[in-house]
Amino acid sequence: MKIHIITLFPEVFEPYLKVGPVRKAIETNQIEVHFYNPRDYAPSPKEVDDYPFGGFSGMVLKIEPIHKILKEIENKGKVILPTPQGKLLNQKMIAELEKESAITIICGRYKGVDERITKFVDLEISIGDYILSGGEIPALILLDAISRMKEGTLGNKDSCLTDSIISSILDAPYYTRPQDYEGEKVPEVLTSGDHEKVIRWARKEALKRTLLRRPELFYKALLKKDDLIFIKEIEEELRWKT
Ligand SMILES: C[S@@+](CC[C@H](N)C(=O)[O-])C[C@H]1O[C@@H](n2cnc3c(N)ncnc32)[C@H](O)[C@@H]1O
Repeated sequence: MKIHIITLFPEVFEPYLKVGPVRKAIETNQIEVHFYNPRDYAPSPKEVDDYPFGGFSGMVLKIEPIHKILKEIENKGKVILPTPQGKLLNQKMIAELEKESAITIICGRYKGVDERITKFVDLEISIGDYILSGGEIPALILLDAISRMKEGTLGNKDSCLTDSIISSILDAPYYTRPQDYEGEKVPEVLTSGDHEKVIRWARKEALKRTLLRRPELFYKALLKKDDLIFIKEIEEELRWKT
């Protein structure tokens, strides 16, 4: 899969390409990342932005260098524009993008990109209701989330199956050594050696967290046979607490 990234700051990405699932996806030739800097496609490196028409404050990225890059890329795939005005990114969208043979991400800066760029954009995505300084972090998020889905990029391929959202609900809490940290103990069941009990405990904890933190996930959750029993138990326990 080719991931083309149009950015004024390609150096921001370099360290991230060298670690974790992104590095593995690159090393196993499952993704190729290409950078294009609008400065290299402008009449001079400084001519990548300009004042907005209408006398508004701030600067706007010019369309010409970016359009030039888009015309140069052979297999662009879906062209994505990160913007706080876009569709909120979720795991389903990541899973769909992961199947593409290529995607191209245009990183905005300043007040954004000249609106006429949207004519060449297939998908506008937002990573949340807050304002960042540029599209580089949203591009990194896409790069990381897509890489994690590629074959063999995770140390343990099963570990992601219980991850929040991937499993359709939230994940259970995790603990590691020491067993007792300043009086805070790891739940006994986890050191009981009873695998069946541990699995049931983790499932119930995951359901409890989902109920308390993200109840709306239950609308689309893929529930298992015993889940309704667990949910009834959780509701009962919570009723006792209040
Ligand atoms: C300061 S923002 C511009 C915001 C724009 N004036 C607006 O209000 O819609 C600069 C760039 O950062 C990126 N950006 C900022 N916040 C974002 C978000 N929540 N999701 C996706 N991209 C974002 C976009 O690429 C945007 O063009």
